Amino acid sequence: MYAALRSIGAYVPEKVLTNDDLAEMVDTTDEWITKRTGIKERRIAHENESTSDMAVKAAEKAIERSGLKKSDIDMIVVATISPDYFNMPSTATVVAHKMGLDKITAFDISAACTGFIYILSVAKAFIESGMKKNVLIIGAEKMSAITDYTDRGTCILFGDGAGAAVVCATKEKENAIIDLHTASDGSLGDFLMTPEGGTGNPHQAELKAEASFIQMKGNETFKIAVRTLTNDVVDILQNNDIAAGEITHFIPHQANYRIIKAVGDALKLDDEQVVLTVHKYGNTSGASIPMAMNDLYEKGNLKAGDLMLLDAFGGGLTWGSALLPFAGK
Ligand code: ACO
Repeated sequence: MYAALRSIGAYVPEKVLTNDDLAEMVDTTDEWITKRTGIKERRIAHENESTSDMAVKAAEKAIERSGLKKSDIDMIVVATISPDYFNMPSTATVVAHKMGLDKITAFDISAACTGFIYILSVAKAFIESGMKKNVLIIGAEKMSAITDYTDRGTCILFGDGAGAAVVCATKEKENAIIDLHTASDGSLGDFLMTPEGGTGNPHQAELKAEASFIQMKGNETFKIAVRTLTNDVVDILQNNDIAAGEITHFIPHQANYRIIKAVGDALKLDDEQVVLTVHKYGNTSGASIPMAMNDLYEKGNLKAGDLMLLDAFGGGLTWGSALLPFAGK
């Protein structure tokens, strides 16, 4: 059995937070944010809207487009660093319950911005081993809930949203995920972290909301991201004997336009090959790749058989890439 990405869906919250809005909150400008990141605006979930609420909306679209019944789904994996609950229940079980799928396998993966590549690898492994047939994978983030809106180094970057895909067992090799690579380097964990509130920093008399806010060594992360991602995508193409020109869509994690441009230039990709949503959604962490893929799909630009190259880099540190055809309609 092979694993094929059969469908895509996403949910984007209505509320828009522009660079000008942020300039009223911290010492920054639209010009600085645009020049350094490519971001113009990002979406912010409603106060009462949880990560699982967004995940369910994205998932329903993906299932509808897969042609499967909801009851055909036999596993849900959610990638998130902004779960509904701090320790338990997992967001995946909350999603499963909200969708009326109480008896299936459901769990979360924590790999920050690389989350979608990690859950794609989990879906592939479960399907190829014969353990599951139709896996719903969801990247969902309410980054606004873990962002410090007094820190101009991070609050300009992040946005909320969810993206989902249905990955199915198939005998058709031409539809199969071709290759996938995931990696990590925990020695650089402090580049991107929420340092307080967990058992790694137990001396907390009481938990405050600030305990879960993101802290980032932005410039150091930027440099490593460019170098690591460039090597990673070159390797995956070489290992599979595929030329960059054969890629229909390069769908990178949408962290910073300059990172995407550097990796795209290293592969000598044309602008038409590179999928960009960073200007309108900012960095939605584990949700960014499926949200970008969905954008392409809803514009009518993602066709069956199109060859996609995905890459991502994030907290952990973690990174990964994937090569796969779109096996939907
Ligand atoms: N507005 C104005 N000035 C700012 C802002 C701001 N919002 N933020 C920082 N500055 C200032 C800094 O204080 C600094 O000033 P100084 O020179 O007087 O000290 C100057 O701008 C340059 O700061 P840098 O941090 O060096 O700026 P850089 O060009 O690196 O851009 C950014 C910062 C956008 C954060 C970039 O480093 C970046 O994108 N990093 C990578 C983020 C990433 O990919 N993370 C991984 C995924 S996220 C995840 O996994 C959850």
